[in-house]
Amino acid sequence: MSSPQVLARLGMISLQILVLIALSVRSVSAYLKESLTHAGVRSVFPGDTNYTSASKAFNLRFTFSPAAVTFPTTPDQVALVVKAAHDNNYIVVPRGGGHSYVANGLGGKNGSVVVDMSSMKAINFLATTNTAVIETGNRLGDIALALNAVGRALPHGSCAEVGIGGHTAFGGYGFSSRQWGLALDPIFAINAVLADGTIVRATKDSHPDLFWSLKGAAPSFAITTSIEVNTFAAPSYATGIKFSWKDMDYETAGKSMFSFQNFSLSGPPASFAGELAFTRGSQSGLVTLGFTGAWYGANGSAIPTMQPWLDVMPPPSTSSLLGNGSYIDAVAHLSPTPLNTSSAPLTTDTFYAKSLMTPEKDPMTLEAFTSFMEYLSTEGFSSETLWFAQMELYGGPNSKIREIANDATAFSRRDTLFTFQFYASSSTRQPPYPIDGLSFLDGMADSVTSKMHSGWSYGAYANYIDNRLQNWQSLYFDANYRRLQSIKDQLDPHNVFMFPTSIETTKKQFD
Ligand SMILES: Cc1cc2nc3c(=O)[nH]c(=O)nc-3n(C[C@H](O)[C@H](O)[C@H](O)COP(=O)(O)OP(=O)(O)OC[C@H]3O[C@@H](n4cnc5c(N)ncnc54)[C@H](O)[C@@H]3O)c2cc1C
Ligand SMILES: *[C@@H]1O[C@H](CO)[C@@H](O)[C@H](O)[C@H]1NC(C)=O
Ligand SMILES: *[C@@H]1O[C@H](CO)[C@@H](O)[C@H](O)[C@H]1NC(C)=O
Ligand SMILES: *[C@@H]1O[C@H](CO)[C@@H](O)[C@H](O)[C@H]1NC(C)=O
Ligand SMILES: *[C@@H]1O[C@H](CO)[C@@H](O)[C@H](O)[C@H]1NC(C)=O
Ligand SMILES: *[C@@H]1O[C@H](CO)[C@@H](O)[C@H](O)[C@H]1NC(C)=O
Ligand SMILES: *[C@@H]1O[C@H](CO)[C@@H](O)[C@H](O)[C@H]1NC(C)=O
Repeated sequence: MSSPQVLARLGMISLQILVLIALSVRSVSAYLKESLTHAGVRSVFPGDTNYTSASKAFNLRFTFSPAAVTFPTTPDQVALVVKAAHDNNYIVVPRGGGHSYVANGLGGKNGSVVVDMSSMKAINFLATTNTAVIETGNRLGDIALALNAVGRALPHGSCAEVGIGGHTAFGGYGFSSRQWGLALDPIFAINAVLADGTIVRATKDSHPDLFWSLKGAAPSFAITTSIEVNTFAAPSYATGIKFSWKDMDYETAGKSMFSFQNFSLSGPPASFAGELAFTRGSQSGLVTLGFTGAWYGANGSAIPTMQPWLDVMPPPSTSSLLGNGSYIDAVAHLSPTPLNTSSAPLTTDTFYAKSLMTPEKDPMTLEAFTSFMEYLSTEGFSSETLWFAQMELYGGPNSKIREIANDATAFSRRDTLFTFQFYASSSTRQPPYPIDGLSFLDGMADSVTSKMHSGWSYGAYANYIDNRLQNWQSLYFDANYRRLQSIKDQLDPHNVFMFPTSIETTKKQFD
């Protein structure tokens, strides 16, 4: 049936459709602007003076142009934004602290409506129950300071600038996680706005499917406006711990990792926390090894607790305890930036990162550790990037993280022993990003997985989000992915909350 005339006619029809689409997009964006203005929500649009700064990513490898960046001040305003965007067929995305590695807080692509939570920063502590209601525009450092002022604390990551919205959306690991769990674990209720603009309070009894999904995959299901949490008594003694071993040969470094794994599996107390970090050595074949940790037990017991590992290690180049013994001083020393985030400008970087979570029941071999260290000491030595690799201790027999079942919340990888983070910035921390930075990190992860047996059931950490990851559905969510999809079908059938690596509906998409 195909003839030049038919093709020409089809061409004209599709041109007309294109023109129609272009016209409707224009009027739709005018409608969006009108409804947001009418709703009284402070919003910034392309062309406005504040647009460039409002749409700037933490990771400067990404520049996206959202359709609007909105700054609601109440849950009602969040709902108005979602409705306005939904009615005009826009994709909506919440932004907390903006620290997504792939700028998913800006939508991870052009044209989304961003719901920036930074005007919602209330923290209300209730002394009778030791619970707190925390709005999701807060950052970790400010929450730590506010709770410490009443002698309380929560488990969370060490970097003060990270937003609680994104952090609790996908897990949230920090030095107190072995004793208190992930940042999302103390949450007993979540106030959220659904894709159709309804406001709900989800608990294990009310909207249980939503509550389950929000604990590990939040932005695919709702915009959380506040979390209600059980707090912990701030430990009466706390200290940071730092050791370094400069310029280790890669074989010794591999053995050091192996013995740290051995020590970790022997079950250090939950009040012990630590991670190994690797950076470039001064010549090929060498790496620098660092240990950063924390101790929340008795004064004087930090080093004795890790002595079984130190006994099999070479003498360190440096070692120190950090802080004056108070909980908040340890938190401050372990954060790269000040805890009070309004007292210093926020940082940016230009980088790529990947992750790998190792199953506790199938530990790594000495060969795999050595292969990893050989890669860092050679490819890492010659890379033009500024890189580090980290191995965070999640597990061990006493860890609180693993006391919750893998299917009890959307966060599935609870039986993890270590979470690796592989991270490489451009040499100036500014764009452009060197293209071989991507393959350098792919190779870093491969240097580990290629030496493990083929059925090794490792995972990846969705807070170290990687939009180039193959098979991310199972690496991030494992067996929980199917349930997440069926809840997505029910709660967001039109995929209003869509971004790179968002939970896919099982329904066919026609856009
Ligand atoms: C310097 C630095 C240090 C870090 N340290 C740690 C660490 O120690 N431990 C750790 O576990 N992780 C750490 N991370 C990773 C961090 O937890 C994630 O990047 C986290 O998702 C950032 O949250 P955000 O709110 O700052 O980011 P955003 O970019 O605002 O959000 C990240 C994702 O969460 C979604 N989101 C944000 N707010 C909401 C909300 N209210 N409701 C629903 N979804 C929401 C966004 O849509 C986006 O998909 C670190 C990251 C950086 C950049
Ligand atoms: C633009 O930025 C200025 C200065 O920071 C601020 O006072 C103003 O409220 C912003 N306008 C909007 C619409 O966000
Ligand atoms: C997204 O917008 C930016 C800035 O306007 C532009 O440079 C880029 O090409 C756009 N990306 C896509 C995929 O359209
Ligand atoms: C492994 O740990 C045991 C104690 O749990 C210790 O005796 C042994 O030396 C360790 N081996 C290595 C290689 O670290
Ligand atoms: C911890 O113990 C050391 C050594 O005994 C002592 O100097 C220090 O004051 C103690 N710190 C706290 C916070 O109790
Ligand atoms: C320890 O340091 C913190 C600040 O990080 C300070 O508030 C506290 O008063 C200090 N405590 C002592 C005993 O010096
Ligand atoms: C943080 O710093 C700001 C500005 O310097 C100040 O107003 C605020 O009180 C500080 N917050 C805390 C918790 O210390």
